[in-house]
Amino acid sequence: MTNLIRLDHTHVLTAFHQYELGSSERLRKGLVDNVCLAIEIHAQLEEEIFYPALRVVADTEMLRKSTPEHDEMRGLISRLRNMPVADPAFDDTFFELMRHVMHHVADEETLLLPAAERLLPDQLSELGAQMTKRRLELAGPRAPELASSMARSMSGGTLVGIGSAMLAGAYLLTRRGPGDRLAAARKRFSRAV
Ligand SMILES: [Fe+2]
Ligand SMILES: [Fe+2]
Repeated sequence: MTNLIRLDHTHVLTAFHQYELGSSERLRKGLVDNVCLAIEIHAQLEEEIFYPALRVVADTEMLRKSTPEHDEMRGLISRLRNMPVADPAFDDTFFELMRHVMHHVADEETLLLPAAERLLPDQLSELGAQMTKRRLELAGPRAPELASSMARSMSGGTLVGIGSAMLAGAYLLTRRGPGDRLAAARKRFSRAV
């Protein structure tokens, strides 16, 4: 599970690094939409699966403030969604979201993930499987939104940003029959769990 969380973090941070003030409004909006969707799904997965499991064996300040920090991110995401990209405050609001996410990710990767690896070594595989299953449930209904933001964050023929490869996988899987969707996802990600 911890490597799936790190993979999500890497994708979001990579998208952050591709955000440039000189880029077109369409590209910046596409990146922002993609990042916001990836953060929403990631935060929900942590709150439903990762944090409760860790709470059973650890009670730390970082764990207590994690969900309120997600809520602050949700507030910024909501502001971004209700703001035209041409608004002078749009870039600064996104940079504020970046600051929050980077700080939060640093705490998770240096405190919470090592704690999980020390205290829950036998549960990580099962928690990772739960996370993969739940991710598909959350990402499936949002596939059109994902496809739209992915298309807009294309630049010069190169796909930039892209919140999460797993989200992309969920989108592709929704185009196949629902029967093999979960099985294919489990197979694909079992190596990473
Ligand atoms: Fe988090
Ligand atoms: Fe996280």
